[in-house]
Amino acid sequence: MASIMERFHVAGRVAIVTGSGRGIGAATAIALADAGADVVISARNRSQMEETAAQVRERGRRALLVECDVLEAEQRKSLVEQTIAEFGRLDILVNNVGGSGPKPALETTDEEFEACFRFNVTTAFSMSCLSAPHMVETAGQGAIVNISSVAGRFPQPGFISYGVGKAALDFMTRNLAQDFAPKVRVNSIAVGSTLTASLAGVINDDLERAMVARTPMGRLGQPEDIAACALFLASPAADYVTGEIYGVNGGLTGTPMEMPRAGL
Ligand SMILES: NC(=O)c1ccc[n+]([C@@H]2O[C@H](COP(=O)([O-])OP(=O)(O)OC[C@H]3O[C@@H](n4cnc5c(N)ncnc54)[C@H](OP(=O)(O)O)[C@@H]3O)[C@@H](O)[C@H]2O)c1
Repeated sequence: MASIMERFHVAGRVAIVTGSGRGIGAATAIALADAGADVVISARNRSQMEETAAQVRERGRRALLVECDVLEAEQRKSLVEQTIAEFGRLDILVNNVGGSGPKPALETTDEEFEACFRFNVTTAFSMSCLSAPHMVETAGQGAIVNISSVAGRFPQPGFISYGVGKAALDFMTRNLAQDFAPKVRVNSIAVGSTLTASLAGVINDDLERAMVARTPMGRLGQPEDIAACALFLASPAADYVTGEIYGVNGGLTGTPMEMPRAGL
């Protein structure tokens, strides 16, 4: 019997990682390259994409750079088409782009609520439906990993748009897993507070200390903590795992930060 470690390898496979210029997306692209995949690096800012691509190439893997704003339907379609044109196959899709800052419910407009849903859910839905048929046609099977959040797991004041968006992403994951089985697996990761540029934009030292104090593992996450789980879910090691929401959040059983209630 082959070594179990072989099941963690993705050699010869091709992965698209959205939002892979920095943060969790970049760490995931590099992790997949470490494990043998060629990677399509995608975001809007080309200079950051170049930095990720350099790390993929340092690992002896091929990197294709595709500028793509996931909010634009034509650009999403082109991202998948360029992948097939360059590599002739697609095995793995990581829907990493997403996010939204906290905002009180009563100050959130309908338009902001819908825009957050579109950013976190519709784009991942569209990329999944564009990719799954190609995965089956070119590789015979595939794996989709959605980057979600503890905000979709724990209700909390101040996170109405983001919480609903990530909760919907998780349910979409479970639904698509049913739709796409047995050929394409779909899983998501409920990420906790992770030290990236987007988190740095909303925390300060006091808030960071408070968040660490609420986290059983006693530290915030690093992008590589999430990347390791994404690699597992994308690899043959997870061949019997689909429709699951994996927590990578230091053991949080509640929200990592406290926002004020609406005060009604
Ligand atoms: N960091 C956390 O604490 C945390 C916690 C829970 C969940 N998450 C989730 O993890 C994911 C990644 O977060 P992160 O912290 O790594 O973010 P980040 O450091 O801000 O990186 C986001 C990446 O996405 C790209 N991007 C942003 N908007 C885009 C668009 N419209 N089209 C294409 N690419 C776009 C960015 O590049 P460009 O700006 O160049 O396009 C960048 O490469 C998100 O889904 C987020 O909700 C993060």
